[in-house]
Amino acid sequence: MKKKMMTGVAAIVCALMATVGQNAAAQSTAPQNVKYLAANCANCHGTNGAGSQGLPSLAGLKKEYIIEQMNNFKSGAREATLMHQISKGYTDEQVAAMAAFFEQQKK
Ligand code: HEC
Repeated sequence: MKKKMMTGVAAIVCALMATVGQNAAAQSTAPQNVKYLAANCANCHGTNGAGSQGLPSLAGLKKEYIIEQMNNFKSGAREATLMHQISKGYTDEQVAAMAAFFEQQKK
């Protein structure tokens, strides 16, 4: 009888853990996913945004500045060769998460 109860508790704990796991996966701006998001920028802006091939470095830029520039690219307020297209691929939430990540990176 006691053993059966323990199995039941274990099943509930497992179910709870699975739910927590799913929520984390669904939320793409969860901390462990932000570096994957930011990796989309590395091709041009260098690993962790530290600049490459003459393109601007994102590392160490103020979070607010990055968000503002991404919005300017999105709206067309700032002229761009590439970033007007790239910026449209990300939600405000994703941009904010990436901006916070790049702000923390070393130049
Ligand atoms: C295909 C190359 C490419 C990729 C990928 C790319 N960028 Fe850019 N980025 C540029 C270029 C080129 C510029 C200069 C503006 C322009 O001509 O579009 C720029 C400029 C910027 C600027 C302005 C920097 C400043 O000093 O004012 C920000 C912010 C920025 N990019 C953020 C990002 C973020 C965030 C990502 C990833 C989601 C990203 N970029 C991905 C090419 C790229």
